[in-house]
Amino acid sequence: MIDNALNRLRDKRPAFEPGHVWLAGAGPGSMEMLTIGVLAAVMEADIIVYDALVDPDLLDYARPDAERVYMGKRGGQPSASQDEINRRIVELARRNLRVLRLKGGDPFIFARGGEEAVALHKAGVPFRVLSGVTAAIGAAASTVTPITMRGVNNALVLMTGHDKDGVTELDYAALARLDQPIVIYMGLTYLAEIAARLRKGGMDRAMPVAVVQNATRPNERILISTLEEVAEKVKSEGLRSPALVYIGRVVPVGEKLREMAAEFA
Ligand SMILES: C[S@@+](CC[C@H](N)C(=O)[O-])C[C@H]1O[C@@H](n2cnc3c(N)ncnc32)[C@H](O)[C@@H]1O
Repeated sequence: MIDNALNRLRDKRPAFEPGHVWLAGAGPGSMEMLTIGVLAAVMEADIIVYDALVDPDLLDYARPDAERVYMGKRGGQPSASQDEINRRIVELARRNLRVLRLKGGDPFIFARGGEEAVALHKAGVPFRVLSGVTAAIGAAASTVTPITMRGVNNALVLMTGHDKDGVTELDYAALARLDQPIVIYMGLTYLAEIAARLRKGGMDRAMPVAVVQNATRPNERILISTLEEVAEKVKSEGLRSPALVYIGRVVPVGEKLREMAAEFA
């Protein structure tokens, strides 16, 4: 049945041609969140250049002769620079290989996929983008926390906790005034600073916060707190990356829905 679905898909989308690079997202970890399009690309690629957050089990679906190249960036560990990654994928495409550049989550959400697309275009290498389930959406499902809930919120802010210069510089008072849920990627390092800026901007110190570590994976962990206490609690409970920080009134909705879902477990 799955072979049938993969064949139908291949009939309907552009062929994965030698010399092309596909920038793809493997989702947040669980195979349940892998798209069939990305699975088909994994099975066809000549070479897969993958990131730290990609589940290595997924590479078992690659052709036995396909090359697997780890090019991830994990905080605090030696890793390839973005320029090196850009150069490598261009060079592999010029060797006339079908190159799959595989990232955790979605390639266009805090994943430098845009920069890789620009580098490929500049080098004259044809590319496509295959979406993946981003961590915030995956974690919403696995923690039963709606991203939007009528009567609770009408918008969602996705932000990163830092950029290359340190804590993300945003108008935190505007974010506080907006009063819509915020999901922070890479948010643990500067969590105390971000919480302080939101409070200074007028956000209620009791605003509910959830931190979800290893979302969608068997070792998923969730911590519930408030804006005032979350940074301390993350430290005392030893939560680590990869983790997402949800701030907003959808957090208690999630707590209720988890209880409801557990009734059927
Ligand atoms: C470089 S970003 C990559 C985001 C990815 N492109 C996406 O769309 O999900 C890495 C950050 O994503 C978040 N993340 C990715 N996978 C996660 C997971 N399974 N559980 C919790 N957070 C995750 C964490 O904040 C992590 O530090």
